[in-house]
This record gives sequence, structure tokens and C-alpha cells, in this order.
Amino acid sequence: MNAEKRILVVGSINMDLVAEMTRPPVMGETVLANALHHLPGGKGANQAVAAARLGARVVFLGAVGSDPFAASLIENLKTAGVATHRIRTVDGPSGIALITLAQGDNQIIIYPGANHALKPEDVLQAEEEFKTAQVVLLQFEIPLPVVAQAARSAKAHGRRVIVNPAPAQAFPTEWFPYIDVLTPNREELATLSEMPVERPSDVVQAMRKLKAQGARAIVTTLGDAGVAYLNADGEARFVPAYDVPVVDTTGAGDAFNGALAVALAEGRSLYASIEFANRVAALKVTRMGAQAGMPRREEVDGNFAWRTRRPAEDGSGSE
Ligand code: RIB
Repeated sequence: MNAEKRILVVGSINMDLVAEMTRPPVMGETVLANALHHLPGGKGANQAVAAARLGARVVFLGAVGSDPFAASLIENLKTAGVATHRIRTVDGPSGIALITLAQGDNQIIIYPGANHALKPEDVLQAEEEFKTAQVVLLQFEIPLPVVAQAARSAKAHGRRVIVNPAPAQAFPTEWFPYIDVLTPNREELATLSEMPVERPSDVVQAMRKLKAQGARAIVTTLGDAGVAYLNADGEARFVPAYDVPVVDTTGAGDAFNGALAVALAEGRSLYASIEFANRVAALKVTRMGAQAGMPRREEVDGNFAWRTRRPAEDGSGSE
């Protein structure tokens, strides 16, 4: 393992209860599931596993409950090589995600449980971790004051900060100086920019709006439409998605974010980091499980068999 790549993830950890079905129910309807899985998940924990599988040294700061799920959630992180000494156990249930998987996509309902017991003090008590991490990776499944404290602590130590604003919640523009890369998906971009985001031109316009409010780089994941980004110099580019057989899209965004953190920690450019993360996310959707489906480094660096869906709108892109 390369000691140079150190990532700190402050975020959520959930047990995913995944029901596979032919089509999701409409409101008031009951449908039969074809399969039911208990799979470790949570955006923070997923991103930690993604980064660890890619060879980074990862510390995860989060909270689990006092229920029977907690031990297996922690064990799963350990097996992936993630350091778990910053996980606090609180009374009550762990985070739970109820996931329906149908027709190549998912719907998720999250019960935050222990994730919402995290406090800014948990971050302050983990000061040591900010001294050594090169990249700090944050999401919005934990209380926003905890995210804000982690971003401030990271910047106090000169660390690079990636904020994945998922699930979508508006946050104060005063946070922007603490964020190096903001990684919304289409819906999250619409929430943050307070404008509809449908066509590619909307995506760029929404990112420019955030940039005008003080955001640095913005990387928007668009599912099978690829990735759009606006770099710190205000240059907008599209990166096409890979055309892969879809098994489970759960955690694809997390695979992207974990990989982005690793690539940036390795000193790659933003464009090269997005390219790398795009491959990792593509491999993830070919497999079941948010954490179980995260690819290993050799699969990403090796012969990558998949082709992109269509050329990038503005050429291959570089910084
Ligand atoms: O991003 C996917 C994750 O969102 C799932 O693992 C689920 O736990 C929810 O947090």
C-alpha cells in the first residue's frame, strides 16, 4: 500500500436492505420482490471502501448503533482495509437504507439512525486524522454542522476537500472557500443552483451559477450521460460514460467520489482524476452491492474493455 495516499472520510454507514423487483410499486400498490439482500452501504462507508480498494490508506469517521447490524458493518470496512478506530457506537439503531432495484435503476429511503448522532465534537476529537490525510471526503447523510466542521478542520490543516452533496440539501455559500471540489449529481446540482437542470447547457449554466457564488471546481455526475465539470479556471468540459451492462447502480456515485479522492491524492489533474473515477464507477454498476461491487485497483488500471457511450461533446479534454 502506498503511504502517500491517505484519505479521511467523514460520513454515513448504513445497512442496505435491497429488494430486487421487475418494476417498483406505485403509491398504494404491493409488488413481490424477486430477491432480498442485506448489504453494507452508506455513502460515507461506500466511498471509504472504494478508496481503500484502489490502494489508499483510509480512515472512516462515523457512527453505528447498538443493534446487531453494527458489528457486520464495521467488520466489512475492516475487511476492505478501512481503519475503523474513529467509529463511535451510540445507543439505538444503525442507519438503514431501504432500496428497491428495478429496471436498471434504484430508489432509496434512508433512516439515518446513528448517523445523525454524529456531532462536530467527534470531528474536533479526531484532529490527528486531519494532520495526515491528503484528501478529506464528505457527504450529506450526516448532520450538516458535522460536515461544516470537517471541512473547516481539513482546511485548517491545508487539506484538499471533496464534498459530495448527497442527498441534496442546500448549504450556505460561506462554505465554498472550504471546498476544493463539489460533486453533485444532476438533481443535487438543481437543488444547489435553484434552477432546473435538464439539458447539457443547463448543467453548465447551473455550475457557472455556483462558481459565481464562490465554488471552486464542480464535477457533476450525470449517470449514463457521463460527467460534466467546471474547473477552477471556469473551463467547462464533458466526459462520456462507459457503455456497460447494468447490474446495480447503487453506490456508483460513491465509487466515483472515492476514486476521485484517490486520484487527486496521487497528484493527478482534475481531468485525469475524473477519467479514472469514471472507469471505477462504470465497473461498479456491473456488480451487485454498494460496497461489495467496488472494483480493485488492478481491474481499473488493467485492460479496460469497455467503450464510451459517445464522444465527449467538446473533444477529449485536458487541463
Ligand atoms: O449511495 C448509495 C448509498 O446511499 C446506499 O449504500 C445507501 O446506504 C444510501 O446511503
